This record gives sequence, structure tokens and C-alpha cells, in this order.
Amino acid sequence: MNYQVYFLGAGPGDPDLLTRRAERLLKECRVVYVPPLYDQPFAEFLDGKELFVPFDFYFADLITLIKDQLVNGPIAFLVPGDLTFYSPFQAVVDALGDLAVVVPGVGAANAASALLKKTLDLPGVCSRAILASPRTLGEGPDAPTMGDFAAPGVSLLIYMNNIPLAELVAQLRKGYGKDVPMALAHRVGLPDEEIIVATLDTIVERVGPRDFFNLDSPNPRPALTLLLVGESLTADADPAWWDYRRDNIWKYQDNS
Ligand SMILES: C[S@@+](CC[C@H](N)C(=O)[O-])C[C@H]1O[C@@H](n2cnc3c(N)ncnc32)[C@H](O)[C@@H]1O
Repeated sequence: MNYQVYFLGAGPGDPDLLTRRAERLLKECRVVYVPPLYDQPFAEFLDGKELFVPFDFYFADLITLIKDQLVNGPIAFLVPGDLTFYSPFQAVVDALGDLAVVVPGVGAANAASALLKKTLDLPGVCSRAILASPRTLGEGPDAPTMGDFAAPGVSLLIYMNNIPLAELVAQLRKGYGKDVPMALAHRVGLPDEEIIVATLDTIVERVGPRDFFNLDSPNPRPALTLLLVGESLTADADPAWWDYRRDNIWKYQDNS
């Protein structure tokens, strides 16, 4: 039998956000690769399994180990959020080719939007969303800054922030050209989750001395903090859009 490696979207940390498919496949696997922090919330699902931390291995050794383990049965990787954005597992998926199966899950962006109870695009308010991280924009005078993505009508989702909040906010303020809502979503889906909803002009004071980004810590790992910026965070949807869509889109009957 040819066993496969399941890259299971494990969500932001709450096992209740696993899809039924991911839960079913996880049950089939005796060997599970678990990134740090996921072993505790997922303890009940991992009981009795052989656990490995993927980052304990150099790449070539990891691939060799996985292939050896595959002889005995399927293997699962718990993928934080899922593979869609900023996942470290792409090279592993590529190296495994047909042996890899990717199962989607709930990303930090989905979980934060749910916490805010806000869609991140809204007719007449926000027409586009941009996901970016200052960590991956590159260095040097020609590298873009987060301010380059900020503009009225943009919902901006900032992952793995690594610059001081006041500096980041100054860049965004320039791009938006006005005060707009900003939210800081910390450890979403974990028992100690926090969300601060403020604006560009008030967020620094609201956050105070708390280091939500591990900037003052020797730990180089990105903190579990997602920043969201833009008018959609607090705007109310205009109910007129409902009737407009009903008249122009939803009433249309075509079963093809
Ligand atoms: C390496 S990326 C992984 C993103 C993941 N693939 C996803 O879509 O959720 C890690 C960054 O995602 C965000 N993040 C992941 N989990 C989070 C959580 N539980 N709460 C808040 N932000 C989170 C943070 O910005 C963190 O620095």
C-alpha cells in the first residue's frame, strides 16, 4: 500500500476549527509532525501517537525520515492556519510530490475576521484586501514598506510584524492619508486570545508597553499576532446592497 503525507490545516490553535476531513485523516496517522505550541491544544487528538517537531531536522534528513516512516503508515503534519499564506512547509510538499496531500483549514485571517464579526471587503467601503508582512518585504532603499500598500479602500492584513508599532503606524498613516480603524488580534483561537480594536491614531496608546510582537525578546519566532487595518473593520454594511443583489443577482433563475 502506498501511504501519503497529510498536510492538515490545523487552524490558528483551536482544534474545534479543524475540518472534519482533517480530523478524520489525523485519526488514521500514528506519526504526526507537530509545530511548537500545537501539542498542547491538540493533546487530546495526539494521545498515543508518535510526535515529531518538524523544525528539529535539516531538510534532507527530514525528507529521508518521512520516507522511512511512510513504509509503516500515513503521516500527518499539523500546518498552522493552513498552507495558503506564510506556511513554512511548501518545500516539504514540493519534495514529496504525489505523496503529499494538502487539506485546507482556517487561517489566522479567517479566525480574526470571525472574532471581529466583520467581512474584510465591503461594497462602498473596502474594495480590496492585501496580505503582507514587513518581515518578507526585503531590505534596501528600493524595498517596499507597509505604507506602500496602505490606501483608502484597502483592508490590510499584516502578518509577522517585526517593526515597532509606532513606526508601522506612521507608515500606514501616510498611506491611508487619514485615521482608519486598526485591530490587533493576539493568539486567536487559543484560551488567552485577545483583540484590541482601535484606530491608527489611538492604537499605540491602547497597546501601551505590551510587546505583542516579541520585539524585545531574544526569541526570533514571529509572535501569534495579526494586525488588521482599514475601514471595513468597524463599518456597518449598507442594507440597500441586499435588495440590490436580490433584484440584480440572486433572483435570477437558471439551473444550468
Ligand atoms: C508563519 S505565519 C503562519 C500563518 C498561517 N499559515 C495562517 O494562515 O494562519 C505566522 C503568523 O500568522 C499570524 N498568526 C498565526 N496564528 C495566529 C493566531 N492564533 N493569532 C493571531 N495571529 C496568528 C501571526 O501574524 C503570525 O506571526
